[in-house]
Amino acid sequence: MTRERRSMATRAVHAGGKPPPSVTAPKVPPIYTSSVFTFDYLEQIDDVYEGRTPGYVYSRQRNPGIDLLEEAVSSLECGSEAVAFASGMAAITCSVLALAQSGDHVVAGRVLYGGTHTFFKEDLPKRGVETTFVDTNDLDEVRSAVRPNTKLVYCETISNPLMEVADLAALSEIAHGAGALLVVDNTFVSPVLCRPLEHGADISINSTTKYLNGHSDVTGGVAVCAPYVAGDSAGDRAGELRAGGGSRTKAQSPAAKVRALAALYGPTPSPFDAWLTVRGLRTVDLRIRKCSENALRLARFLAEHPKVGVVHYPGLESSSCHALGKKYLSGGYGGMLSFELRGGTLESARALIDSLRMVELVPSLAGVSTTVSHPGKTSHRAIPPEERGAYGVGDGLIRVSVGIEDYADIEEDFRQALDAVPVA
Ligand SMILES: Cc1ncc(COP(=O)(O)O)c(C=O)c1O
Repeated sequence: MTRERRSMATRAVHAGGKPPPSVTAPKVPPIYTSSVFTFDYLEQIDDVYEGRTPGYVYSRQRNPGIDLLEEAVSSLECGSEAVAFASGMAAITCSVLALAQSGDHVVAGRVLYGGTHTFFKEDLPKRGVETTFVDTNDLDEVRSAVRPNTKLVYCETISNPLMEVADLAALSEIAHGAGALLVVDNTFVSPVLCRPLEHGADISINSTTKYLNGHSDVTGGVAVCAPYVAGDSAGDRAGELRAGGGSRTKAQSPAAKVRALAALYGPTPSPFDAWLTVRGLRTVDLRIRKCSENALRLARFLAEHPKVGVVHYPGLESSSCHALGKKYLSGGYGGMLSFELRGGTLESARALIDSLRMVELVPSLAGVSTTVSHPGKTSHRAIPPEERGAYGVGDGLIRVSVGIEDYADIEEDFRQALDAVPVA
């Protein structure tokens, strides 16, 4: 039957299903929304599954647009392989679950994004994995927390919300010395300012919801792994240590473990979100430099203001993390800062936040506009106030994500809001 003589119903189903031939390629890669891919003949399925022929099968496992996102973020982080996820939390939880099994132990920073803290504290124990929380800036505390069954050391390059800078080289030395891997959440600085893999980390994770996409219109995450040499990595040494140095089963790279778990659990990003993120990250270098420049100026303004108590920003010479910031961050100290008004109460924080006119109250970060958040009521809400208060995340703490506006307008909004706040 010729095409013309097929019925209306059949033509509606099949017509327009293949792109027209073209010797020219689109300047921008298309969005591959297809959930599945077609094969010309049966054996081709084996060829693609076994990797003898390049090809895609099913978008939960791989998709060309998601591969492009993984390639782009891996390139920025100077990694060897990346796995993309539908959120930063999916990237964190799946990476950890792929690398720590029942009976294993994790050493994690005590100041982390609230969701990550809750995962380590409440979810991992149900899976038989215990976490010891430490001050990652106290290297002796980290050293003494490590055990023979420690599989991972976990930290944030700059901690949410106190902006402490992690000593990545020292932490990787401790982790590797114990046969464990160092996993770093690089969300707050992005690979523009710091590439943790260059300092010994094994996996660098970004919530791409933040700086990499950068426009507050995508939720996503990417885990990037360091180059892997079988038998030569900390992960393999950890396996050997546990097996008493005996015979080793075929080693699988951390990236392969994370990808296998992701393909099984299915926390896959949508092709549209992957496309938007690649578009967003084209300008990440410009955005983060401008945010950093504005944040440094705002941090200095706040630090000198008589109504402001403490300001957390590694770019300030007075910060206890300034030396580590200088060592690990290049091109700026990032767009995130946090501060408390004198007295540090919830009332003073509320008065300031409610007085801001241009700067919006937004419980996320790293978009193009300047926003504020209240960690105690948002990102760290699940952590009891006494617990978070003990390490500095009190009810008076305000977190600022400094945007790329003209600096004078940002300062003016904080100045008028501070004028409106009663003196403590
Ligand atoms: C440092 C950090 N890591 C991870 C996450 C989680 O990312 P997502 O919201 O994309 O799941 C967040 C969220 O705010 C964060 O601040």
